[in-house]
Amino acid sequence: MKILEEKILSEGIAVNEDILKVDSFVNHQVDPVLMHQIGEAFAAHYKDCGVTKVVTIESSGIAPALMTALALNVPMIILKKQPSKVLNDNLYQTVITSFTKGTSYELTLSQQFINENDHVLIVDDFLANGEAATGAIRLLRKAHATIAGVGILIEKSFQPGRGKLMEQGIDVYSLARISKLGKDLIEFIPEEE
Ligand code: G4P
Ligand code: NA
Ligand code: NA
Repeated sequence: MKILEEKILSEGIAVNEDILKVDSFVNHQVDPVLMHQIGEAFAAHYKDCGVTKVVTIESSGIAPALMTALALNVPMIILKKQPSKVLNDNLYQTVITSFTKGTSYELTLSQQFINENDHVLIVDDFLANGEAATGAIRLLRKAHATIAGVGILIEKSFQPGRGKLMEQGIDVYSLARISKLGKDLIEFIPEEE
């Protein structure tokens, strides 16, 4: 997505070879016009896939997921991060470990909001190691839902996330794919026609 790549080039900061800072339009301040365009782009890609719900993980996935849900005219669901061992009979839970942050949390979904009739599009801001997306898929499968795909704003293609998801047969649609990060350097994988 050209406008997202341009925004990353103008405002993104490569902190090191692994981390891209996008606090001015995704993670801290949010650009509503860009999020709207992102929602339209995901909706265009998934419009004929029978998506019944858009699911994201709190917190930075919420803005693009909401715009996508609006464009597809379906509800959005936020998977919650809770400290481990919150016991409740009416929840699906799975533990996710983040390599980037070196932390674990329990991803939580109320049984009320997803069932076997759901075909879910997952939307998130970053795809790095794929642990969050893989955990979300695990959780949605506990609810007997099927997965339409994973829509990502910024994929770090030099990390294993995409490969992990594709191994499971998941459709991964990333709007910007970064091949390389470094000091004053952000390179993209060219978009396919
Ligand atoms: P993974 O799910 O792909 O394995 O990613 P990982 O656990 O490594 O990512 C942990 C958190 O770090 C996620 O945010 C993810 O979006 C974020 N992250 C990963 N790589 C980058 C990066 O290069 N730049 C930025 N800005 N963030 C990155 P989170 O903890 O779930 O929080 P939130 O931002 O959604 O609130
Ligand atoms: Na996120
Ligand atoms: Na994030």
